[in-house]
Amino acid sequence: MSKLYADLAEVYAAMYTTFINYKAEYDFYSKILKKYHKNTLLEIGSGTGNLAAYFKENGFNYCGLDLSEQMIAIAKRKALNCDFIQGDMRTFKLDKQVQSIIMAGRTISYLVSNEEVNTSFLNIHHNLDKGGIFCFDFIDANKFIPAILKEKTIVHQATHNNINYVRKAVWEPNLKYGMDVKWEAKYYKNTPKGLIPLGEDSSVVRTFSKDEITLFLSINHFEIKDIIERASYAFPTFVVVAEKK
Ligand SMILES: C[S@@+](CC[C@H](N)C(=O)[O-])C[C@H]1O[C@@H](n2cnc3c(N)ncnc32)[C@H](O)[C@@H]1O
Repeated sequence: MSKLYADLAEVYAAMYTTFINYKAEYDFYSKILKKYHKNTLLEIGSGTGNLAAYFKENGFNYCGLDLSEQMIAIAKRKALNCDFIQGDMRTFKLDKQVQSIIMAGRTISYLVSNEEVNTSFLNIHHNLDKGGIFCFDFIDANKFIPAILKEKTIVHQATHNNINYVRKAVWEPNLKYGMDVKWEAKYYKNTPKGLIPLGEDSSVVRTFSKDEITLFLSINHFEIKDIIERASYAFPTFVVVAEKK
């Protein structure tokens, strides 16, 4: 697992609350669930629980699932009355099927091989009711890969609780078998005396084309209802809405 969700989970929590407008994320995803009359949801990759409280407060029957114990510990602290379970999207099994599953924040990027994508989609299919909705976002390979071939380094800053965090990252595309990207990032606290290192993270993330996602969904018995273009803080993304057939 990426160190960002383990040793650096507190740094993630601080930086991403400034990068991402979670209220806007909630508004976006809840509107889709309401359109399909879904009131019960599992959020895969629930992270530090930023969407959980919004769903709960607004009457949804919410449960979060994440691979990382550290992320779940922070989520439980933030969203006190919400349920979170530790699990892997490739293998989890709920006691009861749910009406909808969402996966935001480009969590699908961590499924690098075709086998992992297929295993996860099939498992998600098993955990949904018939007619259930699966809604997730992914990084658009057609825009992202050409952009990072031109510019491989990126610096992000975020101020949270009066601490200024700096992230210096380098993207290295690996186009050997797919549209993967190696992401090396160094995290610092910015102080009057200079940058104090907080830690480093290295991970491989996958970007997708719309055609690939369409194929993965169709071979795992989902029907695509909508594909919505939606920029996120640093990535060109699409959000897919699919129904369990
Ligand atoms: C990019 S973060 C997104 C977190 C949150 N959705 C947000 O927007 O802030 C990805 C999350 O997915 C989790 N994750 C990665 N691989 C996973 C897997 N195989 N099963 C479940 N969760 C996973 C990580 O631990 C992390 O919390």
